[in-house]
Amino acid sequence: MKKVKVRLNSHSYEIHIGSGVLRQTGHQLKELGFAGKVVIITNPIVKKLYGNALKQSLTKDGFTAIILEVPDGEEQKSLETAGRLYHGLTGHYAERTTPILALGGGVIGDLAGFVAATYLRGVPLIQIPTTLLAQVDSSIGGKVAVNHGQLKNEIGAFYQPRLVITDIDTLKTLTPKEFANGLAEVIKSAVIWDKEFFAYLERNLDQIKSLDARLLEETVFRSAKIKAEIVEKDERELGLRSILNYGHTIGHAIESASDFKMEHGEAIAIGMLAAGRISNQMGILDQSELNRLKCVIEKAGLPTKIPSLKAKRLIQAMEHDKKVLKGKIRFVLARSIGTVFITDEVNSSLIEQALVG
Ligand SMILES: NC(=O)c1ccc[n+]([C@@H]2O[C@H](COP(=O)([O-])OP(=O)(O)OC[C@H]3O[C@@H](n4cnc5c(N)ncnc54)[C@H](O)[C@@H]3O)[C@@H](O)[C@H]2O)c1
Repeated sequence: MKKVKVRLNSHSYEIHIGSGVLRQTGHQLKELGFAGKVVIITNPIVKKLYGNALKQSLTKDGFTAIILEVPDGEEQKSLETAGRLYHGLTGHYAERTTPILALGGGVIGDLAGFVAATYLRGVPLIQIPTTLLAQVDSSIGGKVAVNHGQLKNEIGAFYQPRLVITDIDTLKTLTPKEFANGLAEVIKSAVIWDKEFFAYLERNLDQIKSLDARLLEETVFRSAKIKAEIVEKDERELGLRSILNYGHTIGHAIESASDFKMEHGEAIAIGMLAAGRISNQMGILDQSELNRLKCVIEKAGLPTKIPSLKAKRLIQAMEHDKKVLKGKIRFVLARSIGTVFITDEVNSSLIEQALVG
């Protein structure tokens, strides 16, 4: 088992990463001083796979575990579903000291996190991420939210968990598409922060994709550590933290222009490469580095080109992106692999060229 410490002023916490750590949840919660009742928020898919193992671990250590289930899907990140969960919590007499355990992917993590942040003005939150995306990204850093109408993550808070339990064994049941979604965020973390980790991915991606336990643990560890380091430096996204949006300005536009039919990771992969191309065309990023980025994205099984969507429509979608500042589109661009910077000085003709590859 590996540990990452997220050091924040008043609310530091650990991320426990390894094979089988889900079964130690009861013990870990006891160590943190919790006792009595806990509430698990999950969905039917994840409950069927991991609900019993989690419950057993909790009851073994003397906890009473209540499960609140919500249907699967992004549309559950809503105030309506949060309302139903508050109702469930009240019905089970959950108190201010009752921890909420978010067992699932990013949807459950964001929703249960939002409920934990707001129920009784905040109850303890434990993240137990079960997708690769959630393990390397959404469970770390305290962004919790629900969507509002068409607006994603519109209502939310910064609310850090007390502990993150990241069991890499849960990745075995993900579909290859879901795994690739997470790999896009893994690649992003290397591009923005750590050229050695990028080289590690170049060497090992095939074995990581075949779920080699040692390499997978190291990958999740290194990627989670990068996110933790960035969050430590800028918890509330006043500056640096926005580099985590590398590939996302174009990626989000592709997602929305495809009416969300395209997978998030696929859109981000295209966005990361397009941002690389823009940097290259601006004379900032070497062609050899751009080639390396393309190779890794391809090796991960992610797309590198825009589908049949029109570049102009995408630029319009980007203009609506919330990262637009004073009418300009804000980009995270790569200087080299491992170093990025933020700019709004990107000519829209360059964006069009970068999109068509
Ligand atoms: N808070 C943040 O900082 C942050 C960062 C990135 C993304 N997000 C959010 O994360 C969400 C996307 O998360 P996601 O990609 O994990 O999607 P998700 O939570 O919808 O999970 C994807 C699918 O995998 C299933 N699943 C989960 N774990 C499984 C397992 N171990 N085996 C088999 N199936 C499993 C889920 O039920 C779902 O059908 C979005 O809502 C996004 O806004 C938040």
